[in-house]
Amino acid sequence: MFNIIIKDNYDEVSSEAFKVMKEVVKKKDCVLGLATGSSPVGLYKKMIADHKSEGTSYKDIRSWNLDEYVGIPHTHEQSYYTFMHENLFDHIDIKEENVHVPCGEGDNIEQNCIDYEKSMEGVTVDLQVLGIGSDGHIAFNEPGTPFDSLTHIMDLTEQTRQDNARFFDNDINQVPTHAITMGLASIMRARKIVLIATGANKADAVYGMIKGELTTDCPASILQTHPDVTVVLDKEAASRL
Ligand code: F6R
Repeated sequence: MFNIIIKDNYDEVSSEAFKVMKEVVKKKDCVLGLATGSSPVGLYKKMIADHKSEGTSYKDIRSWNLDEYVGIPHTHEQSYYTFMHENLFDHIDIKEENVHVPCGEGDNIEQNCIDYEKSMEGVTVDLQVLGIGSDGHIAFNEPGTPFDSLTHIMDLTEQTRQDNARFFDNDINQVPTHAITMGLASIMRARKIVLIATGANKADAVYGMIKGELTTDCPASILQTHPDVTVVLDKEAASRL
């Protein structure tokens, strides 16, 4: 079930997402599912500000990230591990041993997928933060990914690599071709989801997620079957609803 909130600008969108987050992190040992990309950066900034001004503590909170590029080390400046540390973890009191980001390095990525899924055994994410790709992907589950998928390796589409080239000197050739990602079934286990989308280039994907048919052609449409999804949009992303 969707609770749809439409706001005028990115700052207001981030504030609405933060309200959802703040309710959840009141439970001091909650579990967060976290995303990278541009969409949640404003939310993370508000979490940092709140930690510094209100003393909200993350010391007993555990987190699992959705995805990571394959073939770049965690220390790479564009790895999602680095992104999470720069944009959130380094500025709050979460413990390094409590953060989990898939590992896209090594000879046996298949095993890394199995290990990541195992690390979540017996864990229920209280709040999953999501963005959405312009092709309707969530995490790196590109169109065609089965709804029952667990953590797996994904070939990134040309469109996703083009969208993400802005982080790689606008050079698509530098964007990794594969990612390790939580599957759609892994994501759907979360108790509650907050999805953030802004900008006109997300309008079709947002429409497909909310009003389109339930189809793997739009992976985000699986969220139609989740009991508790707050979607926070700006007017441009909501323009087709
Ligand atoms: C990142 C992720 C992706 C992004 C999506 C939107 O962890 O899971 O699904 O949320 O590609 O990216 P932005 O927010 O950069 O538009």
